[in-house]
Amino acid sequence: MSKVIKNGTIVTADRTWKADVLIKHDKIVAIGHDLHADHEIDATGCYVMPGGIDPHTHLEMPFMGTYSSDDFESGTRAALSGGTTMVVDFCLPSPGQSLLEAIDMWSNKSTRACCDYSYHMAITWWGEQVFNEMQQVVDKGITSFKHFMAYKGALMVNDDEMYSSFQRCAELGALPLVHAENGDVVAQLQQKLLAEGNDGPEAHAYSRPPEVEGEATNRAIMIADMAGAPLYVVHTSCEQSHEAIRRARQKGMRVYGEPLVQHLVLDESEYFDKDWDHAARRVMSPPFRNKQHQDSLWAGLSAGSLQVVATDHCAFTTEQKRYGVGDFTKIPNGTGGLEDRLPVLWTKGVNTGRLTMNEFVAVTSTNIAKILNIYPKKGAIVEGADADIIVWDPEKTKTITSGAQQSAIDYNVFEGIEVKGLPKHVLTRGEIAVENFAVKAKPGHGQFVGREPHQAVSKALSTWKELVAPRKVERTGIPASGV
Ligand code: URP
Ligand code: ZN
Ligand code: ZN
Ligand code: ZN
Repeated sequence: MSKVIKNGTIVTADRTWKADVLIKHDKIVAIGHDLHADHEIDATGCYVMPGGIDPHTHLEMPFMGTYSSDDFESGTRAALSGGTTMVVDFCLPSPGQSLLEAIDMWSNKSTRACCDYSYHMAITWWGEQVFNEMQQVVDKGITSFKHFMAYKGALMVNDDEMYSSFQRCAELGALPLVHAENGDVVAQLQQKLLAEGNDGPEAHAYSRPPEVEGEATNRAIMIADMAGAPLYVVHTSCEQSHEAIRRARQKGMRVYGEPLVQHLVLDESEYFDKDWDHAARRVMSPPFRNKQHQDSLWAGLSAGSLQVVATDHCAFTTEQKRYGVGDFTKIPNGTGGLEDRLPVLWTKGVNTGRLTMNEFVAVTSTNIAKILNIYPKKGAIVEGADADIIVWDPEKTKTITSGAQQSAIDYNVFEGIEVKGLPKHVLTRGEIAVENFAVKAKPGHGQFVGREPHQAVSKALSTWKELVAPRKVERTGIPASGV
């Protein structure tokens, strides 16, 4: 059946114009005036935008002795309800486990996804097997590899392993990602705080100051540069890390930064709340920062030194958070945000003038589609693209409350925030998942999106690396060696 979205204003990363959008099956087939179809979707007074892409989620993730509570079904339903039509989750092999086995495990988890999804592969250990399997992982359409520089004794890899993996990424045309925090320093700070009797959630923030993030971001950038690889820094939360990314980009390096909507909007005062549950529910790494850091992140998004707004959606219930009563290091790290990312970013970004509508589309969809090499299949309103589309009502308001959310957890870190601007209709590959603000997502509709290596970026980097490679100087007059 064909569908047409009529009377709306199309907003993409680089244009705003009035036109209808014609959809056949799962694709956009025409954009123009007076288009007709079996089914009409009225977009009067609304913006028609590419569906959001969240490149950083942890659905049903085994972590800190438990599993994150939103699985692929509830997580992607939450995503669609807020206008996100694709998520990228992390396959997480246990130390010693085959990367291919981890892909199988994640494929089993994702069968009931309501929207399209892809994976990043985490490098949680290093050895010949991992080196070899990275090729097969890329052949399966997973072309980005995540490295945790924190979580010592669990997911953390050291510099030696990271440098080896980044070089392998460069060979394969893959994109390395980092969680940038100095895990050794964090581990010592945690023990010191505990020994001093600081066992509450506020100590989580004290144990992960901006400096540990800035240092690790700089280190990862240096290692990527030596390896001839691009670099994507996940959950960039502070000026120190943003500064490192900005400086690297000014030097011409392909380094990308990803603030989370939580870090843009929520600040460190949350950890000083008298209510233990309130503070623990907001424990994530890196922690929320102060207003100066938030200003820096907002500026980076409009200036173009930061490219993507994600959520790192990793939702734990209050009961799970209470594993850490008496020892903040045992509070499962993670917060939710999948269904609130777009409305909150629109409200705090577009409605305040910090972002234009086109910048909003760029940072929620188009930029990451380009970085992950799935543009214009995703992240675009053009003929031939997947019909992942939001019809956005800029006048619609709601107050965020956990009682009305799709996510499986019992609270919402944005509780009480009034948003203005919500998705009225959402299409996922041509299927209606939200109609007149009512969620109609279908479990099992989502498909895996395989990705090709980014040939243009890797060719540019390897050509330059070869051009500036060390070369032996052939000398004529070599003196006899001294004694
Ligand atoms: O606290 C966080 N961010 N939890 C999820 C895992 C990660 O570090 O991304
Ligand atoms: Zn119909
Ligand atoms: Zn992380
Ligand atoms: Zn994460």
